[in-house]
Amino acid sequence: MHPQPGILAGPVKQARYLTFSCNADADAPAALRALASHIDVNNTVVGLGSTFIKSLGAQIPGMKSMHAETQRGIEIPATPSDVWCWLRGSDRGELFHRSREIVNALAPYFDLTSTVDSFQYDENRDLTGYIDGTENPPDDEAEGVATQQGMGDGMDGSSFVAVQQWVHDFDVIGSMPRNKLDDSIGRRMSDNVEFPESPPSAHVRRSGAKSVDPHAFMLRRSMPWTQEMSGGLMFVAFVNALESFEAILKRMTGEGDAVQDALFEYTQPVTGAYYWCPPVSDGRLNLTALESRAR
Ligand code: HEM
Repeated sequence: MHPQPGILAGPVKQARYLTFSCNADADAPAALRALASHIDVNNTVVGLGSTFIKSLGAQIPGMKSMHAETQRGIEIPATPSDVWCWLRGSDRGELFHRSREIVNALAPYFDLTSTVDSFQYDENRDLTGYIDGTENPPDDEAEGVATQQGMGDGMDGSSFVAVQQWVHDFDVIGSMPRNKLDDSIGRRMSDNVEFPESPPSAHVRRSGAKSVDPHAFMLRRSMPWTQEMSGGLMFVAFVNALESFEAILKRMTGEGDAVQDALFEYTQPVTGAYYWCPPVSDGRLNLTALESRAR
């Protein structure tokens, strides 16, 4: 069993994110079969939300729902859905047609609830201008960080993903002197070098894996998004345990030491959800865990 290929693969030029909710009158196992038969795992990553997993009568160890919370004025929303699809490609027209095919094929079972178009900016820059993903685990460690191992048939190769759409305030970003912006990330935009004299609120000082105990590792696969004159980052992190994401997010919001991540001065999440991404066997989603763990 393997992870869904798009999780470990390198960046793509274009992407489209779709979320779906299962119709109240749909038969959940039939909906799952329809999903599995219409998704090409070679170009699309799929995640299932906890409510949908429960509606199948199944249990996935470690799966949970994101909780909305407000920490010292920072709002972390929770906007769960039943299915999340990350369509990956290089051609926006092809992604558009592929997304229509998926939406139409799933229409008897699922309603489309959101569509977000994303793209690669320069060499993996966030729209603030900073390169994103530099401190991701190296290729030989990525699979261990992002996927389940030693959990048995149907679970091994599966992954949890945290997804948050962040909206940037480009007026604030544009008004900040470059050194303040560099301070907010803790890296220089000009050469991507991390500098030791950054303030404690610098994003990389809040989010470093070793800033929490136990250390929290994740494989980030975020991409910029825009719609009309709005834009930001679709934050996507694959983990072998959702607690890794939670620990870093808590540190970013200042839990424990009241130091908040400087990112919040100019960006905020407007959605948030967790999904379980089934593994793949013989080029198809392996749904054994949902069947064998059904109660
Ligand atoms: C709009 C929101 C965000 C932006 C623009 C952003 C941007 C960045 C940038 C530019 C870096 C430095 C380069 C790199 O190592 O990738 C970074 C690092 C990192 N970010 Fe974010 N990030 C955002 C949200 C988050 C969130 C929500 C989390 C997790 C809860 C997170 C976790 C991390 C981690 C773990 C690192 C590596 C830190 C290190 O070891 O140096 N980021 N981010």
